[in-house]
Amino acid sequence: MDQIKLINGIKLPQIGFGTWQITDRDQMAEVFSNAYDVGYRLFDTAAAYSNEIALSKAIARKGLSREEYILSDKVWNTSRGCEAVQEACRRSLKKLKTDYFDLYLIHWPASMKLYPNWEEINADTWRGMEQLYRDGMVKAIGVCNFKTHHLEALKKTAEIMPMVDQVELHPGFNQNELLEYCRVNNMVVQASSPLGNGKILNNEDICAIAVEKKKTIAQVCLRWGLQKGAALISKTVNIGRMQENFDIFDFTLNEKEMDAIDNLPYCGGIGIDPDEVKEFG
Ligand SMILES: NC(=O)c1ccc[n+]([C@@H]2O[C@H](COP(=O)([O-])OP(=O)(O)OC[C@H]3O[C@@H](n4cnc5c(N)ncnc54)[C@H](OP(=O)(O)O)[C@@H]3O)[C@@H](O)[C@H]2O)c1
Repeated sequence: MDQIKLINGIKLPQIGFGTWQITDRDQMAEVFSNAYDVGYRLFDTAAAYSNEIALSKAIARKGLSREEYILSDKVWNTSRGCEAVQEACRRSLKKLKTDYFDLYLIHWPASMKLYPNWEEINADTWRGMEQLYRDGMVKAIGVCNFKTHHLEALKKTAEIMPMVDQVELHPGFNQNELLEYCRVNNMVVQASSPLGNGKILNNEDICAIAVEKKKTIAQVCLRWGLQKGAALISKTVNIGRMQENFDIFDFTLNEKEMDAIDNLPYCGGIGIDPDEVKEFG
């Protein structure tokens, strides 16, 4: 499988496995084991998913050594600020029984609706992220759900810019402006919800392309995401679909097919608008 290289030289698989909405320990063990056997190596969790311990137990049950898998975790909104983010990371590391994360992300920017000083808060949290990186507790740092104005604001004080921005991206939610911004600023865009959490799977135009290509709608959506220049975080609890979603490196969408998908009507908004996010939880 292809890999993407971050600005600091760290390589990550182009397709990772998402664990959002998997909380049951037995299900996590089965899903993790199947995903690993299919070939997924990057596992994406978050403090807010309430499944870090379940994931840790799944890894232990599989008997893997730390170098055999790649872990990405996220700090939740209730741990903003330089000190709080470092404490949150230490708590998550303990739950995952590891002394480093391969990638650590801020889950949501501080919302401008809640905080007049949102820029200052994000800058302070980012200082904590930079410290974690310098201390070797995380091999790469990034953000999620940051729009270009959040990144531009961060740029004013950041000593190290985010290496990854994980955002909702799928057919019907192209994120063209952000993709271009990240390309110019050497950040990798990781697509969360690359199938729109399943919402895009009934689309007739994509179905027609899939029939033509002898691929499934999901495979066409994921392939489109790769060709847009994004890395992907894919999730399914079904072993057949894990294989299907992984099997996207043996075909290419041509310009006409890419254009047709690019021009589908808007169907984003699976997640919250980053400018509206509340500090729940
Ligand atoms: N940073 C953030 O704020 C953020 C936000 C959202 C997500 N994420 C990350 O991104 C990951 C992926 O997001 P997501 O779960 O919304 O991903 P998604 O790939 O857009 O959607 C997953 C949904 O589609 C179904 N599915 C997956 N493959 C399929 C296939 N080949 N055919 C038919 N249905 C299929 C799954 O159902 P089954 O499981 O039943 O197959 C699941 O309901 C999350 O797990 C999480 O790690 C991050």
